[in-house]
Amino acid sequence: MQLINVRDYEEQALATLDLPTRDYYRSGSEDERTLHANRAAYDQVRLRPRALVDVSACDLRTTVLGTPVAMPILVAPTAYHCLAHPEGECATVQGVGAAGTLMGVSTLGTRSLEEVAAAASGPLWFQLYVYKDRRVSEGLIRRAEAAGYRALVLTVDTPRLGQRERDLRNGFGLPAHLHQANFQDSSETPVHIQEQGLSGLAVHASAMFDTALTWEALSWLRSVTQLPIIVKGLMTAEDAALAVAHGAAGIIVSNHGGRQLDGAIATLEALPEVVAAVNGACEVYVDGGAQRGTDILKALALGARAVLVGRPILWGLAVNGAAGVTHVLTILRDELERAMALSGRPTLDSIDRTLVKVPRDW
Ligand code: GLV
Repeated sequence: MQLINVRDYEEQALATLDLPTRDYYRSGSEDERTLHANRAAYDQVRLRPRALVDVSACDLRTTVLGTPVAMPILVAPTAYHCLAHPEGECATVQGVGAAGTLMGVSTLGTRSLEEVAAAASGPLWFQLYVYKDRRVSEGLIRRAEAAGYRALVLTVDTPRLGQRERDLRNGFGLPAHLHQANFQDSSETPVHIQEQGLSGLAVHASAMFDTALTWEALSWLRSVTQLPIIVKGLMTAEDAALAVAHGAAGIIVSNHGGRQLDGAIATLEALPEVVAAVNGACEVYVDGGAQRGTDILKALALGARAVLVGRPILWGLAVNGAAGVTHVLTILRDELERAMALSGRPTLDSIDRTLVKVPRDW
């Protein structure tokens, strides 16, 4: 099969992965309305190209929190890469580095945050949950600082795990030969439960994640680390204003790839109100559903500084390891570059709201 676009990679990956892994990666929660809404929102935005602009050289380079990256496309934190490839997150990070961009590394990795940092050639952010026992989170923060991660990405949409029904039907649990490498993990911990009607990850989340988390957590985080804090999982202007007031350095508009609250609006739809509320006080990024360079162009036009991609990276990893990850990122980069040329926007600064038509009630 020729691998020309991200959908080709998805199709190929889905054909090779075993059912529980395939379903774990691709699924959303409950009726998967939000999963589909994330994609559909990109179809609802249309482009207003300008003509007769010199587009002989398009420049995609940018910075995120001051860190230079080759393009406004970053890698979203996702869990359990060893399900897709034996080298897991270490292969991913090599592929990301070769594409010149930044990777968000999940707490729920199957390679430790130190192993990933050792394999990296580009910048890293560390994704964090706040655990009931804050010493667990603090320990991870110290390790991330020591390993050279540049920022913490605090996930705030997961007081408990959304109900992913495919995982329940498959009795999804991490196979015994794989481990949550950032923890002292034995093959008997809840994540390994493989029992129909249960998701090992959901059992782990209810046992460990702090359901009483409030905005105070941001103040706490800022008191224990100098690393910039990016809040991931905000969907409203109200919460964006609170994040700024609590010292967030960045916001990722995210609904966890449609895996948490089903029925939540699409991330692209939430982006304009978040950007307006933040009003330049911190950087705003978005994830969820982007599969094309034109999708990324639309998100940039609506005010995102960069777009994070999650599942497409897993598809690249599953199909061809590090090289597959680099190829997926290169496809998206080339598509974005072409879209910039065809819309008369040769620089990132020239991409603005006048480039898009959005539905009236956004
Ligand atoms: C983990 O964060 C997941 O969405 O499965």
